[in-house]
Amino acid sequence: MKMGYSSSVALLALLMSIVVLCNGGKTSTYVRNLIEKPVDMPLDSDAFAIPPGYNAPQQVHITQGDLVGQAMIISWVTVDEPGSNEVIYWSDSSLQNFTAEGQVFTYTYYNYTSGFIHHTTITNLEFNTKYYYEVGIGNTTRQFWFITPPEVGLDVPYTFGIIGDLGQTFDSNTTLTHYQNSNGTTLLYVGDLSYADDYPNHDNVRWDTWGRFTERSAAYQPWIWTAGNHEIDFDPQIGETQPFKPFSNRYHTPYEASQSTEPYYYSIKRGSAHIIVLASYSAYGTSTLQYKWLTSELPKVNRTETSWLIVLMHAPWYNSYYNHYMEGEPMRVVFESLFVKYKVDVVFAGHVHAYERSERVSNDKYNITNGICTPVKDISAPVYITNGDGGNLEGLATNMTQPQPSYSAYREASFGHGTLDIKNRTHAYYSWNRNQDGYAVEADKLWLFNRYWNPLDDSTTPIP
Ligand SMILES: *[C@@H]1O[C@H](CO)[C@@H](O)[C@H](O)[C@H]1NC(C)=O
Ligand SMILES: *[C@@H]1O[C@H](CO)[C@@H](O)[C@H](O)[C@H]1NC(C)=O
Ligand SMILES: *[C@@H]1O[C@H](CO)[C@@H](O)[C@H](O)[C@H]1NC(C)=O
Ligand SMILES: *[C@@H]1O[C@H](CO)[C@@H](O)[C@H](O)[C@H]1NC(C)=O
Ligand SMILES: *[C@@H]1O[C@H](CO)[C@@H](O)[C@H](O)[C@H]1NC(C)=O
Ligand SMILES: *[C@@H]1O[C@H](CO)[C@@H](O)[C@H](O)[C@H]1NC(C)=O
Ligand SMILES: *[C@@H]1O[C@H](CO)[C@@H](O)[C@H](O)[C@H]1NC(C)=O
Ligand SMILES: *[C@@H]1O[C@H](CO)[C@@H](O)[C@H](O)[C@H]1NC(C)=O
Ligand SMILES: *[C@@H]1O[C@H](CO)[C@@H](O)[C@H](O)[C@H]1NC(C)=O
Ligand SMILES: [Fe+2]
Repeated sequence: MKMGYSSSVALLALLMSIVVLCNGGKTSTYVRNLIEKPVDMPLDSDAFAIPPGYNAPQQVHITQGDLVGQAMIISWVTVDEPGSNEVIYWSDSSLQNFTAEGQVFTYTYYNYTSGFIHHTTITNLEFNTKYYYEVGIGNTTRQFWFITPPEVGLDVPYTFGIIGDLGQTFDSNTTLTHYQNSNGTTLLYVGDLSYADDYPNHDNVRWDTWGRFTERSAAYQPWIWTAGNHEIDFDPQIGETQPFKPFSNRYHTPYEASQSTEPYYYSIKRGSAHIIVLASYSAYGTSTLQYKWLTSELPKVNRTETSWLIVLMHAPWYNSYYNHYMEGEPMRVVFESLFVKYKVDVVFAGHVHAYERSERVSNDKYNITNGICTPVKDISAPVYITNGDGGNLEGLATNMTQPQPSYSAYREASFGHGTLDIKNRTHAYYSWNRNQDGYAVEADKLWLFNRYWNPLDDSTTPIP
């Protein structure tokens, strides 16, 4: 597959390097030869294979379970009987096996009844260590592994992946495969998971298939969850009035470790990064709990401990596609000046099914009467990146506002994934990999300079 592409890849690589070098407001000239609406993989597809054996654990996924990376929440689903909540785990150097117990959850949605959803947190893990773990104890056991991050620190190199709006189409499968061939060791997932709600009665069987599809990555490295609109699953017409019911039962987050009161906004530290996850679909006005939480969280960020400050959210603030245009405005108005004040390095969002990267801009001076309402270059501001390009069944957002606004540095309607390779306290290398090129070709790439340790203008840095 990769071989067949080689000559066109070389041509595209040349073309794209020209586009990238001319920094400042590029709409990629890359044209997909097929802009077809993606289709979901069929229920009997290999990507959704049910593991064999009585009550075999399926949909295995892990996420960070504490503030600093010494705990992991292990989650899986069994279907025949509840079975055990026990996780057995050990490292290469451990002289004994450890066990942890968790809890099992079930829910119903319209006429769907979930399997037995297990969540078990394992704690007191050593940093920078490979752990093996087993679930399904007492019935069919399955074994997986993960590697804990290095201890939190100023110059710790660490590579994150970024995927959003993945869904479960053939394109989603390509995105995930390409991500698996990257060096990403933790995935920052910017919301909209299964798209089960696009099916009649939000057919929750598509939540199960999504869990089985993503297991091949999410069982081996933590996926850091952000809630999107497709997680809301609010549908009073079929009697479903508890928002986030499937998502909150299936995907847990370590929100209590950062003193949050809601699973959809929280923070973690990992390597040299302090990562703040915000909730686009929870209240965020100045009198809300999310606002209170964020305003107490930001002063706690210690850039001598975690040099990089990263924010995840679902609905982007800087978006120049017609799709979801200005939807991020209400939140931007509330929080943007804080992002500038606390020197957030980069903000990742999804929602718009395309790719876009902003310049370092801010637009926080407007006060209704003064007319100061244009984004301006601001080297204290974050770079805003939209990675809503995972490949779900709704298809690409292709309709862009014209001309390209000055805040938009690069935009392209293609599927793909991002990686953020933090090198040290001053430098991180960001790249965006479009699916059509195979995983080794970077369509958009740049060095990000840390806003606290290296607050120079990084917008015109030549790419080596
Ligand atoms: C730990 O559990 C694994 C899998 O069940 C087993 O292969 C291994 O022998 C156990 N190690 C110890 C020290 O009991
Ligand atoms: C749920 O209802 C739909 C139609 O209303 C039907 O097609 C489907 O088979 C039902 N599923 C279950 C599990 O009963
Ligand atoms: C499955 O495992 C559970 C928990 O260990 C156990 O209670 C149950 O008897 C097992 N079921 C069968 C059929 O072995
Ligand atoms: C999904 O991707 C995997 C890994 O590349 C591949 O083995 C599998 O056949 C793909 N499945 C579908 C339905 O495309
Ligand atoms: C992953 O890292 C290795 C070693 O640094 C490097 O050679 C390789 O090109 C990287 N792969 C990707 C896809 O960036
Ligand atoms: C910030 O972190 C550094 C390194 O861990 C530590 O020495 C320092 O005391 C911390 N500062 C505060 C205010 O906690
Ligand atoms: C709005 O901004 C203008 C100009 O910056 C200033 O003169 C005015 O007092 C501000 N209004 C309020 C209510 O703060
Ligand atoms: C793009 O969206 C605008 C605003 O909704 C609409 O007027 C225009 O016709 C759209 N263009 C295309 C090509 O769909
Ligand atoms: C930080 O990383 C960048 C990029 O790899 C490198 O050029 C720079 O020398 C590094 N800084 C230090 C202090 O090592
Ligand atoms: Fe969305």
